[in-house]
Parts: sequence; structure tokens; C-alpha cells
Amino acid sequence: MATGLSDRFPLPLAELNRVLGGGVVSGSLVLIGGDPGIGKSTLLLQVSALVAQAKGKVAYVSGEETLSQIRLRAERLGVKGEGLYLLAETELDVILSELERLSPSLAIIDSIQAVSSPELDAASGSITQVRECTLRLMHWAKQNSVPVFIAGHVTKDGAIAGPRVLEHIVDVVLYLEGEPFSAYRILRGAKNRFGSTNEVGVFEMKEQGLVEVDNPSLAFLSQRQVEAIGSTVVSTLEGTRPLLVEIQALTTPTAFGLPRRTANGVDFNRLLLIAAVLTKRVGLRLGNQDIIVNVTGGLRIAEPAADLGIALAIASSFRDTSADPQLVVVGEVGLSGELRTVPQLERRVAEAARMGFERCLVPKTGGKISKPKDIELITVSTLREAIGVGL
Ligand SMILES: Nc1ncnc2c1ncn2[C@@H]1O[C@H](COP(=O)(O)OP(=O)(O)O)[C@@H](O)[C@H]1O
Ligand SMILES: [Mg+2]
Repeated sequence: MATGLSDRFPLPLAELNRVLGGGVVSGSLVLIGGDPGIGKSTLLLQVSALVAQAKGKVAYVSGEETLSQIRLRAERLGVKGEGLYLLAETELDVILSELERLSPSLAIIDSIQAVSSPELDAASGSITQVRECTLRLMHWAKQNSVPVFIAGHVTKDGAIAGPRVLEHIVDVVLYLEGEPFSAYRILRGAKNRFGSTNEVGVFEMKEQGLVEVDNPSLAFLSQRQVEAIGSTVVSTLEGTRPLLVEIQALTTPTAFGLPRRTANGVDFNRLLLIAAVLTKRVGLRLGNQDIIVNVTGGLRIAEPAADLGIALAIASSFRDTSADPQLVVVGEVGLSGELRTVPQLERRVAEAARMGFERCLVPKTGGKISKPKDIELITVSTLREAIGVGL
């Protein structure tokens, strides 16, 4: 395959380029996965129109919507139709011959689960169909040096013909994520043959479609009430990009039966661990408390670097006292109540400083941490100590 980096062309959407590694590579097959309703079709239609304007002909093939439905959506999104060729079709051979005839600069298949080939003795949407159609689209993309984007729904039970079974076939896999009740969407790279998977794109779903968020920290903190009880700000890393996010916790006495723990946007098992460490090592009696933890903006934080923020938010709610509003916290909590350092500490601190925070609470490390001069670093070695400083 003669696909080199030189064949990469930037798309007119910076957040998408960032995740793709600077642009889309000619002849590459890019899978955009995500839950139904998350915004895949919206994103792809917007990209189609932008590329059609910049590079000429784009084929947008929908197997799920009629032409008039797509037109309605295009109108609502305010996208220009010039150079955009819409096709409502599910049969692969028809799609391929139309693509052949049109010779577009970009082709979109929405969604791969809706496409099938009658030659195959398998039901539409089955693994056999989805895999075979993907392989043939891959072949077409490579032969014609045209990038192809395919949308794939993540199915509830995972395995059935969802994007996972295609991950090893396609060149690039991106997932569009977000909570249904939140307008923010994160586009995350899961595989990239032509670049790193370390970047995320941040969008906000609005009436006119997905809008790029240039300053995610500002967006995620925009609803924050300063000096709220049970609220802390953490500096988390999304790929290589530091992001400030608010974590909220609420503790209430358990009314009946076993205490409940609810984790929205943080890992449930980490919440259990943190609650246990707070009880055992810090002496907070959480055994008869229900605990709810929430990440605002619908972001999901997987990394342990948010542990300290979660712990401080819980302690703040339990003690009914607000955390220092000018403080950003970072650190992993260990089982003995010790704080562990986290990767890329300096970038996280720099982001806190950029957003105007005055102090950053971080785990004590062996080495020296360089930091911007307008932020104070407070180093602590245990969770108990951190709570003493932060509350
Ligand atoms: N007619 C509409 N008016 C307003 N919002 C809409 C309309 N259609 C879709 N949306 C919004 O766009 C979101 C994303 O839809 P869509 O791009 O079709 O998702 P996907 O292709 O991932 O299933 C929907 O969840 C909804 O919030
Ligand atoms: Mg769709």
C-alpha cells in the first residue's frame, strides 16, 4: 500500500484533524463508532459539506435515512449542498458502482450496519455482512486513493456486528462519546495506522450541529458555582491535552438497607476504593452514607489522577464545608492512604495556571516540578494531609 503521510489532507474541522493526526490520509478507511443518537450522522454530514466546499465532490451514502430526511437535516444544520451528492442506498454493489461513477474526493457510508451485499448468504447487519462490506469498501478506498468514512453503531450487547469486529480491518477507529443528557461530545482515537491515538476532539451539540470547543476547560467549568459544597476541580488528561473538570459529590445518610454508591463519569470501582480509603485511613465514617459522584459536562474520566479530586469532593460534602475554590487537585490515591504521582504533572499544573487558578494540590514527588510563576504548588504525601489543606 503506497499510502504515505504526504497524502494526508487536512479537513476543514480542526478538532477532527487533531484526532486523525493532522488530516485524513488518501485511500484510508476511517470508522466512526458511537452509540445511536450520539451525533455520528450529524458530524459526517457536516464534514461532507465542508469537504465538498473545499475539495469538490463528496458522496454521502445513507442506508438509514431517506433523501428527504437527509435534506431536512442538512437544512437544519445550515450546510451547503454544493458538491454534496446524497444517496439513499443499502446495497453494496450499487453503492460501489455509484462511487465509481462519481469519483468523489471523499465518501461517507452511514452506517455500515445498514449496508449489505445480496451475494452473501447472511442477514443484513450480521457480522458476515458487516465485515465483508467493510473489506470491499477498504479495497475500493485503496484502489481509488479516496478516503472513506464509515459510521458504526455500538450495539448494546457489544459483540453483535458492532464497530469492535471491524477494528482490525479499518485504518483508523474513532469513537464519538458523551452522555445523552449532556451536550458535550468527545471524539477519541482508538486506532490509527497513520498517527497516534493520543488526541481527543471536543465538540458541543447545538441546534446547528456539532460545534468545536476551542477551550474545553472553560466550557467544562462554565456552570461551576464557586465555593459549592462537595465540588472540586481536577486537571485530567484527555490524550495529551490537559482539561479542567469539576467533580461533584453528595453524601447522605442511608435511609434503608445497604449504603449505595453511584458513579457518573468516574469508574465505579475507583469510587469504592476511594470511599474505603477515606473511611479507613482518614477516619470519615462513610459506612452509613449513600455517595453520589458526578463529573459535570458528561465527561467520563478513566484515569486514577482524578482520585484525589473525587476524595476531596466526598470529604467536602460529608463535612459540609466547601473546598478551596482557587484550588485544582491532582493525584492517585493508594490503599494505604498515600498519594501517588501521575503522568504529565507539569502540563496539568500549567493548565490550572492558564485558567487562573491560584493553587494546585499535587502528590509529593522525588523530583522538582517546574511550574508557571502565578500558581502555587502545594505538595502532600497522604490523603489525610490533602484534606487538611483542601478543606
Ligand atoms: N430534527 C432534529 N431536531 C433537533 N435535534 C435533532 C434532530 N435530529 C437529531 N437531533 C439531535 O442530533 C443528535 C444526533 O443525532 P444523529 O447525528 O442522527 O446521531 P447518530 O447518527 O449517532 O445516531 C440526536 O440525539 C438529537 O439530539
Ligand atoms: Mg445516524
